[in-house]
Amino acid sequence: MERIYCGKINKNYIGKEVVVYGWVHSRRDHGGVIFVDLRDREGLVQVVFQPDNSQVFSIAEKLKNEYVVKIRGKVRKRPEGTENLKLYSGEVEILCEEIEILNYSKILPFEISEYKDVSEELRLRYRYLDIRRFEMLNRIRLRSDIINIVRNFFIREGFIEVETPFLTKSTPEGARDFLVPSRLNPGSFYALPQSPQLFKQILMIAGIDKYFQIVRCFRDEDLRADRQPEFTQIDYEMSFVSEEDVMSITERLLYEIFKYVGIEISIPFMRLSYDEALSRYGTDKPDLRFSLEIKNVTDVFEKTNFKVFRDVIESGGEINAIVVDKANLFSRQQIENYIEFAKSVGMKGLAWVKYLDGNFESNIVKYFSKEELNMLVKKLELRDNEIIFFSAEEHKKSCEFLGLLRNKIAKDLNLIKKDYKFLWIINFPLFEFSSEENKIVSVHHPFTSPKKQDIELLDKDPLRVRSCGYDIVLNGVELGGGSIRIHNYELQKKIFRILGLSEEEMEDKFGFLLEALSYGAPPHGGLALGLDRLLAILTDVESIREVIAFPKTQKGICLLTKAPSNVTKKQLNELNIQLKIE
Ligand code: AMO
Repeated sequence: MERIYCGKINKNYIGKEVVVYGWVHSRRDHGGVIFVDLRDREGLVQVVFQPDNSQVFSIAEKLKNEYVVKIRGKVRKRPEGTENLKLYSGEVEILCEEIEILNYSKILPFEISEYKDVSEELRLRYRYLDIRRFEMLNRIRLRSDIINIVRNFFIREGFIEVETPFLTKSTPEGARDFLVPSRLNPGSFYALPQSPQLFKQILMIAGIDKYFQIVRCFRDEDLRADRQPEFTQIDYEMSFVSEEDVMSITERLLYEIFKYVGIEISIPFMRLSYDEALSRYGTDKPDLRFSLEIKNVTDVFEKTNFKVFRDVIESGGEINAIVVDKANLFSRQQIENYIEFAKSVGMKGLAWVKYLDGNFESNIVKYFSKEELNMLVKKLELRDNEIIFFSAEEHKKSCEFLGLLRNKIAKDLNLIKKDYKFLWIINFPLFEFSSEENKIVSVHHPFTSPKKQDIELLDKDPLRVRSCGYDIVLNGVELGGGSIRIHNYELQKKIFRILGLSEEEMEDKFGFLLEALSYGAPPHGGLALGLDRLLAILTDVESIREVIAFPKTQKGICLLTKAPSNVTKKQLNELNIQLKIE
């Protein structure tokens, strides 16, 4: 007698006696014969109960969906014409000889066998039922497989897996920290790591040379479809490497992962400088599955009578455009909607012009000279039946807006083909000016090395310094980022100074790093990939919540456990914490 998974039974088992454990997926009463589809993680098998075995038959009559049972019986061929070829076990069935009900189930909040539009709220509250569905289960299994591939890959490449602490000191990755009060040190807090960034650098200084970790990171930031407060990174770091080495190993890893799911990607990936990505796609994470490139047409309107454009150009701004075909399909209302969209993202408006049968149509055409229109046709290589959307603003804002519009139009018009378009974004600026904080901040993190040839600009013009950072983008999603790091004590201090840190702050926040850098730190660099985002793309789902067993809602709540929740006065007292609100 063999114990086997329901979903693994096939015609090779015909005539054999088997034992299966599983959940009642569905039950059908067919004129005196009862059929049960029994389910376990591997799939379904049909079990038949015949009335001549009155003991098992009377139990079968009581079975309801999701009851847990143990069944012993003989596998037999299904009668001719009753096979279900969609099922792995569809040519056979088990004739039940013995059944034991191991547990009962209440009426389900949603059906598992016929799963229709169930709200995500319900799914997250009853995640254990949700995961019983093969769709969800398969994503969780794929996650396990990919983790396995990643681990094998790095071990094969000579990397050492090192676990780094969760209870640690704040590492700046641009988000807020989650804090954990220390009972043993009243008034002091640990921070949960936003990433293992500083520990992996310290491991390089420790001589580990090649490190990797599949690691949970914690960031208290506003949540979206591709952001969770805790998420998983594939994190790695290497000593004595160039940007090329880090990019190349990343490409090989991704090649293996995609190959596993049957997708052949071509490596190396294309590269685009940050400036070019911004000018052509309006973002540092362009989606290259569709074109709709941004074109700068400022020179066309240099002397224009159209005041809106002229004013912008005179104050140093730009006129940028994107061209979309099938202009005749754009109704007034649709154009109006795009104008509303422009306003909703902080633009003053949205100028547009249709080019139909050699004529221009729009309320602003009357302001343009013949010459300007001719230049426009040439510059944009206009073809008949196209519509142009313009944005007149300062360079970054203008491009960023058209980047948003580009994505929206592609989505609205179904222009996005199923494809996997990877690219590297390189030559990032090291710093940017944050108007929110009214100071210079790091584009990546403060440990990113400036380009050697730009080091002398650090004092004169820090905003022009480029970094040794690189991001990897897939289908418009930032999949990962990394850099070659600063391994020089003086240079790291200089960067901290430019970021506005005082000597005391440097010592307090990063004293341990600075000290380590002064004891023979090797040159090093690395990268971290977002595992959840990668899986969401591989499984073609909208949100990373679909690839995480127990995710949190947009409000950071776990609907299953109801965390976060109140704690007792006693717990707070032990931590020396008094709440401002009751
Ligand atoms: P970075 O901050 O770019 O780099 O993070 C790397 C990748 O992690 C993923 N990610 C997230 N995924 C889900 N939810 C989130 N809240 C979230 N935040 C980030 C993204 C992102 O590209 N220490 C550096 C890496 C390095 O320099 O080596 C770091 O953490 O896919």
